[in-house]
Amino acid sequence: MALIKFDETRCKKDGFCVQECPAALIKQTDENSVPVMVAQGDQSCLRCGHCVAVCPHDALHHENIPMESSPKIIKGLVLNEAQAAQYLRTRRSIRRFKNKPVDRKTVQSLIDAARYAPTGGNSQLVTWTVHTDAAQLKNMADLTIAYMKAVLASDAAKNMPPYFSRFVDAYEAGINTITHNAPCLVVASAPGDYANGMVDLSIALSYFELMAAASGLGTCWLGLIARALKFSEPLKDAVGLPESHTHFYSMVLGYPKFKYHRLPERKPATIFWK
Ligand SMILES: Cc1cc2nc3c(=O)[nH]c(=O)nc-3n(C[C@H](O)[C@H](O)[C@H](O)COP(=O)(O)O)c2cc1C
Ligand code: SF4
Repeated sequence: MALIKFDETRCKKDGFCVQECPAALIKQTDENSVPVMVAQGDQSCLRCGHCVAVCPHDALHHENIPMESSPKIIKGLVLNEAQAAQYLRTRRSIRRFKNKPVDRKTVQSLIDAARYAPTGGNSQLVTWTVHTDAAQLKNMADLTIAYMKAVLASDAAKNMPPYFSRFVDAYEAGINTITHNAPCLVVASAPGDYANGMVDLSIALSYFELMAAASGLGTCWLGLIARALKFSEPLKDAVGLPESHTHFYSMVLGYPKFKYHRLPERKPATIFWK
């Protein structure tokens, strides 16, 4: 069966799909003809759905991107510029959480939103490992601290930023500087042999956290766990990523304890206009 079918009764021959396809897989013999897919086009198709998305006439049917699961864009829900700018600036790293669990359905809905993040070649290889057991989270924080103490006791200590030893001291004084007593920890990961793995999972985590903020939740990227996870075998066992997934990053999730009232400033962008 053809990967793409063009509905001749609906097609207005405007050629939008021809121009839009990133792999140049759709062609028109002339401006009055209904488009067709190039020979063997199905082998190079990214399954990105741009052809389905760009057709204003619902004239293009892609076998893997059915119209039924490609809803129309609701104009009333489109953010305006001011809303988008404030929303992006409102996102904060959350380190103080309410003592309230995050249920599986909620985590699932955030991961569902992250599925729409761009991925290299539309490969969609990012996977998610989710921990919600308090004892396991505490164990992972303990193992991260054990790794950090080993680093501080080694020659590598001189290369560590000043906050590194401070975080260990504070943890030992009872402040959870590693997982912030969050009720949930997620690790996004991708196969080591996939070149865009780190980029894809970073974008996916960004989608995840922006969706979390819009849903009344808060997140914090966890560089210290991610770093320890590269070297600590006990921590690797505790986190339990898929075997071949050597690209990964961690984030905690929970309900923020505090509200924020101002938007702190950042450095001006450094731009080289060429
Ligand atoms: C790490 C990365 C690299 C990409 N490289 C290219 C590229 O070189 N050329 C291109 O046309 N698109 C590139 N893309 C875009 C993807 O092909 C695109 O995200 C994917 O097909 C899904 O389409 P969407 O972004 O419209 O959802 C890249 C995306 C990512 C995340
Ligand atoms: S799904 Fe993407 S790559 Fe495939 S034909 Fe449509 S636009 Fe081209």
